[in-house]
Amino acid sequence: MAKARNTAFFCKECGYESAKWLGQCPVCKEWNTFVEEPVAQAKKAPSGQIAAVGAGKTAVPVHISEISLDEQDRTPTGFGELDRVLGSGIVKGSLVLVGGDPGIGKSTLLLQVCRNLAGAGKRVLYISGEESLKQIKMRANRIGMITGDLLFLCETNLDTIHGAIERSKPDIVIIDSIQTMFREDISSAPGSVSQVRESTNLLMQIAKGYGVTIFIVGHVTKEGVVAGPRVLEHMVDTVLYFEGDRNDAYRVLRAVKNRFGSTNEIGVFEMEEKGLSEVLNPSEMLISGRPKEASGAVVACSLEGTRPILLEVQALVTATNFGMARRTANGVDYNRINILLAILEKRCGFAMSRYDAYVNIAGGMKMNEPALDLAVVMALVSSFKNREVDPGMLIFGEVGLSGEVRGVSQAAQRVSEAIKMGFTSCLLPKSNLEKLKDEKRIRLIGVENVREAIQLI
Ligand code: TYD
Ligand code: MG
Repeated sequence: MAKARNTAFFCKECGYESAKWLGQCPVCKEWNTFVEEPVAQAKKAPSGQIAAVGAGKTAVPVHISEISLDEQDRTPTGFGELDRVLGSGIVKGSLVLVGGDPGIGKSTLLLQVCRNLAGAGKRVLYISGEESLKQIKMRANRIGMITGDLLFLCETNLDTIHGAIERSKPDIVIIDSIQTMFREDISSAPGSVSQVRESTNLLMQIAKGYGVTIFIVGHVTKEGVVAGPRVLEHMVDTVLYFEGDRNDAYRVLRAVKNRFGSTNEIGVFEMEEKGLSEVLNPSEMLISGRPKEASGAVVACSLEGTRPILLEVQALVTATNFGMARRTANGVDYNRINILLAILEKRCGFAMSRYDAYVNIAGGMKMNEPALDLAVVMALVSSFKNREVDPGMLIFGEVGLSGEVRGVSQAAQRVSEAIKMGFTSCLLPKSNLEKLKDEKRIRLIGVENVREAIQLI
């Protein structure tokens, strides 16, 4: 008789389960991510159901008109930047994942949020499995005075934590970090895929059952056997990633998934001596320190969620020394740069295949909007010809494969940001010009294809 299977292989990137070891995960396509772990015993309720609290009652469907919505369900966090990313504040009973590299500032951000919420009269419980109470106190001293109802607990056993939440009845709970938490009835080690998954499941039941908002910290791990935050992305309501270079002071908080607001929203923070502070005008920060009269640098406008952000696109084009031309993209999509170079070669007759091309977004921002295309093209040509682009000109527009410049969304918003930041002209797709006919405060130059735009250099 075949032996009952009590271990399985899990992808520690996305949680995919397989009976045998695989070199590449068929779901997330990552290599070497499979680890062997005991299979969770299936004596509890099937995972993925929010049934633990109030289970056993007869299920009665509710008519949509009978569901009441309370304005009070949203709580501001005290950080405007975070509120916008969350979709105007914290939703009662939601489960929010805050992911990011170790040391990027997740604990600091959440402790500051706790401080703001406790100051506003909320009951907050901060559970740390990584730091001792003394260490938390030291960090708290750095970020300033804490008043109000803020409780701390150092614990990693989720069943104990469940009890603590039940007794202290907080409004907000922070779990720092999910990779240190474990459930007694699961035999694998903390941080393993099954522990992380089942722990999140329990936290989901607690959040929905008691109506507490839970923030989960998840470390992004490059190696080791610790499961990454992607394992739990599909279970939580909101996924935020904290990005940035650890050596750089600026941090970007990005919503990757949000059941209560739009994704693509970003919040910009700066790490200081006394914790994180908001950067209210990222455009100003990103285009400050721009070189004067330099070729290959242009200012573009990217729309992140609802907010236009101006940034500097830099390009450097130099003759290739070896047979194959080198291309490097920093902050923009590498494949997009290859496409734009091919368009310049085929549609405009530039011999780009004999030149190395490096493209960079100043300030360490990562932007993936197609509206940056025209700016990248202009920066490349400017560097190729060694002629500068008017520094008072803002550029945006999508470039198609036949070299046509296509319209982008919310052009008016981008143009008003340019006016606000003191730009004198704006290069944009001709099709966007229609709605901006009455704009007199700035010179608008509409172009239909890349060749027209290049003639301006
Ligand atoms: P932390 O919140 O511990 O990171 P995470 O929880 O994501 O692992 O942040 C750690 C870094 O932040 C650390 O390198 C020190 C720095 N820091 C400051 O620069 N100023 C501060 O006031 C605080 C609290 C931390
Ligand atoms: Mg931490």
